[in-house]
Amino acid sequence: MDTKNLDKSQMLALLNDIEFLTENPVGATVQDKVNYQQALFAHRLDIGKAFNTGDYKDGKPVLNYYRPLDPWTDEGDKQWLGENTAEFAEKRQLVELVKKVSALAHTLPGQLKAVMQHDAVYNMTPEAQLEYCVHQSKGYDAGTLAKCLYTSYFYGPINTFLRKQLPGSVDSKIIDLITYTLGVLEKTIKNDKVVHQIETFRVELKSEWMKNPGKGQVLDFPAFTSTHPSEGGVDTMLKDIAKGTFGEVGEPAVLKFQGRTKVLQPNVKYFPEEVETIIPPGMRAKVAHVDVTTLDIPGKGKTAVKLYTLEIQ
Ligand SMILES: NC(=O)c1ccc[n+]([C@@H]2O[C@H](COP(=O)([O-])OP(=O)(O)OC[C@H]3O[C@@H](n4cnc5c(N)ncnc54)[C@H](O)[C@@H]3O)[C@@H](O)[C@H]2O)c1
Repeated sequence: MDTKNLDKSQMLALLNDIEFLTENPVGATVQDKVNYQQALFAHRLDIGKAFNTGDYKDGKPVLNYYRPLDPWTDEGDKQWLGENTAEFAEKRQLVELVKKVSALAHTLPGQLKAVMQHDAVYNMTPEAQLEYCVHQSKGYDAGTLAKCLYTSYFYGPINTFLRKQLPGSVDSKIIDLITYTLGVLEKTIKNDKVVHQIETFRVELKSEWMKNPGKGQVLDFPAFTSTHPSEGGVDTMLKDIAKGTFGEVGEPAVLKFQGRTKVLQPNVKYFPEEVETIIPPGMRAKVAHVDVTTLDIPGKGKTAVKLYTLEIQ
């Protein structure tokens, strides 16, 4: 296998194999193990480490098995960092988050599918998206992983949970991952002291929940609010509607947010090319104007929709 130019799904398959090898050291050939180790180095991943048996074959070391390394275990950190330090607490959080992703990914794929979208762009199942974020966030803190999870289609369950719209039947392990991720995100936002002055735009695909507010009315945004940093971003999103990326569209409206707010800034993203300004949960915004604008909606054509200018409170 050429391990140098792997796309996302090949990389994921490879990493799954490595995990398999970790538990089944006897199952693979020496050459397989050498290849995997090279792939790990090529991608600067330290998910597992091969132990050198001390034997050489064809001039290459014979690798015995893979020992899982951080963040899969925190034993080493306990000794290095000291059990009662802030660094260790930070590391524990990462380990917990990784474990919760793993628990979901390996035991509940069907359940996750019911609340989280498949990624049609990279053909990644919901659980593969979460694992991909774990692997991409290696070497970073829990905040980085939590933010990456939000940038996958996991934003769906998170926002639905925050809007109290998740069905009661959802498995407790999914709720557990959502609430833990939210705890990490909350801490990350709290620690980031920068308040931004923004003017951003959002397409509200199903604006029915807003109930046609008038000037002066204050709206609550209990979930994260994804916005485009420029008006042009709105067109990009409209094109994606045609691909079915956002499911059904109800009564669309455009929201223009103005004011000062903290923003969530992912350093590792599931879709690295996506540009967005994410406003944290709990925002309140007052309607300053209600105007009309035109959106060119795929399947509907040019459509007059409401444009709400909202002042962040
Ligand atoms: N909407 C945008 O303009 C925008 C901007 C930048 C990036 N994105 C990206 O596009 C994807 C989809 O974003 P999104 O905005 O559709 O996700 P979302 O979770 O904010 O909204 C999902 C759906 O729920 C509806 N909704 C919002 N608030 C609601 C409420 N309080 N009650 C009931 N329904 C409510 C929305 O109208 C939308 O149809 C994400 O990947 C996001 O990062 C979207």
